[in-house]
Amino acid sequence: MQITNYKTKQEEVVCTTIMPTRMIPDMVDDVRESLLTTPRSLSPKYFYDERGSELFDQICSTPEYYPTRTENHLLSRYAVDIINKTSPDQILELGSGYAVKTRRLFDACQETSQNCIYAPLDVCEEVLIEAAQKLSEEYDWLGLNPLLGDYHGGLGNLPATQGSHLFVFLGSTIGNFEHADAQDFINEVYKAMRYGDHLLIGVDRVKENHVLHAAYNDAQGITAEFNLNVLHVLNRELNANFNTEEFTHSATFNADKERIEMRLISNTDQHVHIDELGESIQFDRGEEILTEISQKYTYTGIEEMLKQANFTITDHYEDEDAYFSLVLASK
Ligand code: SAH
Ligand code: TRP
Repeated sequence: MQITNYKTKQEEVVCTTIMPTRMIPDMVDDVRESLLTTPRSLSPKYFYDERGSELFDQICSTPEYYPTRTENHLLSRYAVDIINKTSPDQILELGSGYAVKTRRLFDACQETSQNCIYAPLDVCEEVLIEAAQKLSEEYDWLGLNPLLGDYHGGLGNLPATQGSHLFVFLGSTIGNFEHADAQDFINEVYKAMRYGDHLLIGVDRVKENHVLHAAYNDAQGITAEFNLNVLHVLNRELNANFNTEEFTHSATFNADKERIEMRLISNTDQHVHIDELGESIQFDRGEEILTEISQKYTYTGIEEMLKQANFTITDHYEDEDAYFSLVLASK
């Protein structure tokens, strides 16, 4: 059935800027620190300009990228249970993107007549606005409070509202943190929560190499394009002259560390100038830039991390293949 939208004019979406509670390096310092020293790396947050966010969205619907559809199935199956157990007045999502899967929770709120506000936090303003506009059309009862900010800057300035909160951290974004940083981050989420609040976290599991490898090397080459997009971001933001055709996407499973490591590899000996840094980089043929890690967790590994932060596990949902975990925990 077609739902008629009576709104004649789109309401303007306004984002609240979340000020960091600790220093975060600006892009110039950050890139200087990570790219000019070896082993070279780049922070994954620079992937997500408007084009990067769109490419990530496309990755999520490739046949190889199982995490999105698996997590979405788990959410479809358990969302009503989750909403019944948490009765959230506010759903606060970290790294929300287009909030495609979060809609399963809103559907469950609708089904159980749970009224709530959605506060998505993301670094990409364009995506926050687009997501909020669409959500306000699809769920006219849903309160919206989009938050523009960097979760690496601390969670101490998140809006404190009345009632119970459901913190949401989906897409196995926790896997993009080094182990120690992941634990610190979970501890910080715990600190930002009040007693009685819940955390819902989606975490990708250790599995057969070929399944993991395919997920980060899709046949259409969208992941490759996403990875290379970070060089376009550097060209634009730092006035650099990377030739993206001179770098190749690589994503391999490191079995010892149980993680996917994503890199850009220089195809030739080349010089790249980065104007804003006042520096040129000499890349040798085969030289690598680490652009992302995607840590995979075991069932107990996830629970240990949460328990270490003092969380109580409420439910640990998984699919039949044990490809993905969705864990509900409380403070
Ligand atoms: N939760 C969504 C999107 C995951 S992609 C899903 O499961 O599909 C990761 C998201 O986190 C992107 O939207 C990106 O813009 C955001 N992000 C990355 N680094 C961030 C940071 N440091 N602070 C806040 N958001 C960040
Ligand atoms: N959190 C996602 C993951 O680790 C992010 C991601 C998926 C990603 N595919 C990617 C990041 C490709 C960079 C490139 O699975």
